[in-house]
Amino acid sequence: MGMSRREFALLMSSAAAAVATPPALAAALKVRRGIHTYSTTELDTLRAGISAMKALPTEDFRSWMYQAGVHGSTPAEAAAIPDGATYWRQCKHGTTHFLTWHRWYLLFCEEIIRHLADDCHFTMPYWDYLADNFLPEPLRLPADVTTNSLYDSTRNTDINTGIAGISGLNTDALDHIDFDDFAAGSGSIASNPHNTIHNQVVGNMATVATAGRDPVFWLHHCNIDRYWECWIRQGGGRTHPGSPWSDEQFPFHSLTGRREVIVADGLRTADLGYTYDNLPCGRRVIWEIPDWIRDLVFERVPWRRPPQPDPPPWREILESPPMAINGQPRALVVSRADFLRAGGANARRVAVILHGVENLSGKDNLAFSLEVALAPDAKRIAINDFRGVAPIDAFGSFELSVVAEHVEHHGASSALVLELPERALKALSSAGDEFALVFFRRGLVDREGKPRPFDAKQPLFRIGATRLAVQWNAEMGSGTDS
Ligand code: C2O
Repeated sequence: MGMSRREFALLMSSAAAAVATPPALAAALKVRRGIHTYSTTELDTLRAGISAMKALPTEDFRSWMYQAGVHGSTPAEAAAIPDGATYWRQCKHGTTHFLTWHRWYLLFCEEIIRHLADDCHFTMPYWDYLADNFLPEPLRLPADVTTNSLYDSTRNTDINTGIAGISGLNTDALDHIDFDDFAAGSGSIASNPHNTIHNQVVGNMATVATAGRDPVFWLHHCNIDRYWECWIRQGGGRTHPGSPWSDEQFPFHSLTGRREVIVADGLRTADLGYTYDNLPCGRRVIWEIPDWIRDLVFERVPWRRPPQPDPPPWREILESPPMAINGQPRALVVSRADFLRAGGANARRVAVILHGVENLSGKDNLAFSLEVALAPDAKRIAINDFRGVAPIDAFGSFELSVVAEHVEHHGASSALVLELPERALKALSSAGDEFALVFFRRGLVDREGKPRPFDAKQPLFRIGATRLAVQWNAEMGSGTDS
């Protein structure tokens, strides 16, 4: 099959500049920059600030472990801190406050470093992983936590030595018009690049409870914060929800004491006194399909009507039997006629819902994600026709046990909703007799972009049922034959 191992598309953002910052104010703004632009002196400041935090006892709110606990910890760890019940375990992952909460969190941590390193010019650096998917050198070298406070030995070894880089990153989420879609859910910035980074750096980064302990967490979220501002500058900001979303308050223990921040006060970086050196963000999509996907296993399974279709908004129309997935890529074939007959004909939105997903691989440190892609024509699987659907993320998914949206809609406890992006939907309506859902493992790559070796036989996930679900246009009726 014709395949280019790596298709690399670089799309510069269409000109944007929505709201210009008044010059007087702009002069006062602190500028956050990519870590690759940091001088040795600036890196020393960053390292000194973090070392100072690490030297403080956990009960001190300025300490490294306290700040990590603000993001996440076990319930027992939080209970051991006097004000842990108020300030700890606050990560708003999987909600529309993913961006807002992490922005304030980062800001207060930046303040602490500025204070402890005694450098009023300090700003948090970001890691622009779409420009360089290998972990920045200052975080890896020296590979010794006593001399390099940016080092974390729990990361994937190949990431930490610089042998391997992250794969499968994209910024497709920036195409969303709607803030809710941009901030949370399967095609959001929280999914990719956000979860992708957590999933492949692993170690502390793999779980919400420990992620804040790895210094790369801060550079990662700084970059995510930058994408939000980029998205606003291309016009996205007008879909920021109003009240009650914007009235939401988050408690923080800051250098100036207890702060009850209000979401509406931090929707623009300039409101909080900073900006980024590189806005709008370069729009880049790296769509890499591993070579070995040519070993795709096709499975024609008996799809049937789900015995108990869920209530709206997602109506589940087809269900496959349980299956186990290992490192071997596989294609679940679906007859287009069956899909249309079952209710796919008038679908406005289509999702793949995975019920009863179990992680068989032995916990959270997977260093990969399982991607689910749509191949519009199962008879002619051309890698370049793949339309990415979404990864099954280890980060958050297993720990928080579910995608929040799904709990709300289904009350289920172990299902993942992967909505097909619009371009996949288009491909679906013009496909051949059969289309396929392709499941493949996406993990670390070498400098040439080739996957690092792994055991393809290792069991990864068990999926209780793969269901196709639709939402219909109200005016079109249900479109079922039921
Ligand atoms: Cu609160 Cu990157 O997660």
